[in-house]
Amino acid sequence: MPEHTEHVDLARNPDALTAKLLDLHPEVRERSADIRVVHAPGRVNLIGEHTDYNEGYVLPVAIDLGIAIALAPTDDGIVSLTLAENGDTQTFVAAAPGERRHTWIDYVAGMAFAFGEAGLPMRGFRGVLASDLPQGAGLSSSAALEVVGAWALSGGQAPAVDPMRLVHLVKRGENGYIGLNNGIMDQFASIFGEPGRALLLDCRSLDHRAIQLVGDDLALVACHSGSPRRLEASAYNERRSQCDAAVEAIAGLEPGVTALRAVTPAMLHAVRDRLSPLAVRRATHVVEEDQRVLDAIAAFEAGDLAEVGRLFYASHASLRDLYDVSSPELDTLVEIARATPGVIGARLTGAGFGGCTINLVHRDAVPALREAVLRDYPARTGLTPRVFEVAASAGARRIA
Ligand code: GLA
Repeated sequence: MPEHTEHVDLARNPDALTAKLLDLHPEVRERSADIRVVHAPGRVNLIGEHTDYNEGYVLPVAIDLGIAIALAPTDDGIVSLTLAENGDTQTFVAAAPGERRHTWIDYVAGMAFAFGEAGLPMRGFRGVLASDLPQGAGLSSSAALEVVGAWALSGGQAPAVDPMRLVHLVKRGENGYIGLNNGIMDQFASIFGEPGRALLLDCRSLDHRAIQLVGDDLALVACHSGSPRRLEASAYNERRSQCDAAVEAIAGLEPGVTALRAVTPAMLHAVRDRLSPLAVRRATHVVEEDQRVLDAIAAFEAGDLAEVGRLFYASHASLRDLYDVSSPELDTLVEIARATPGVIGARLTGAGFGGCTINLVHRDAVPALREAVLRDYPARTGLTPRVFEVAASAGARRIA
């Protein structure tokens, strides 16, 4: 975020974060040679929303906003981590993270839970954390914290597992410890991110490829609605069980179907009278959204930006009308963007229920979009938006 407060700079400045660690945890001074700084990014998703847990396609981009931890590994198995922003220190025993505390440390403790369950080695550490990734904005601050936590628990290096296995361990931490039944998109992006590229992931086969999407003349702009993302686990988990119910009903008629990914529009049409209207709406979104991801890849590769834009808006409309995860604020942001010349496409990104939109914009139109949002959005909603350009960036890594 472009706010220049101290903690914001620290997330990008390993030397300053290390100095903060020495300051806040002076006991590590004698082991300063062991200090490492690790970083994991947030993400935006270009298209393919609420498809990951239906074994479908997603197209996320790791962004240049994220979470950094400077740490000194220890052999006592104790994790003691301090927020640079306000000095809040949370502590737990890596081998026995216990129950959720309902604070930010849960996302690190959840990784200790998943690592412990999988029998993976872990180390304790003394650390300090800084973030420039807005929380509750739909930019995956949870996944970034889990992934950077996994690196910290691994002594400040890449966890000793295959990266795709790490993706599933993060999911296990979130599902089993935090209680959110989410899919694999966010942590996949945070782990596999590549500068300048988006990542196409098939959540069934786990095949993935990096896609060069955005030339220098295009920009990715996130617009924060200023209404925190109300990702009550309940509303998200409810969508997921509605999809499962739809699959069950379809499988009764189309044996062999185990996920909405396997459902074609023709199949859905054939069974729609036997499903509840709600199941039809949810399933229609997922089936069509999967196709939109594939169409968007084709359009990007053909340089057909008008078609990419059409798909973005269609995705947003489907999330609003069929999946019921938009909000009046997100709809307003999309409408303002759509009315701004030079904006190619706009849609909500992430789970929805508040948070951010992602906008694909001709670079020279970024100021006009910013101006339109800052002028019209407060007038229409009474809320203060934030507009920031994001760049496709590398996944989790050691930065010092
Ligand atoms: C959240 C979840 C993801 C995904 C998106 C919606 O970000 O963590 O797994 O389901 O919502 O696409």
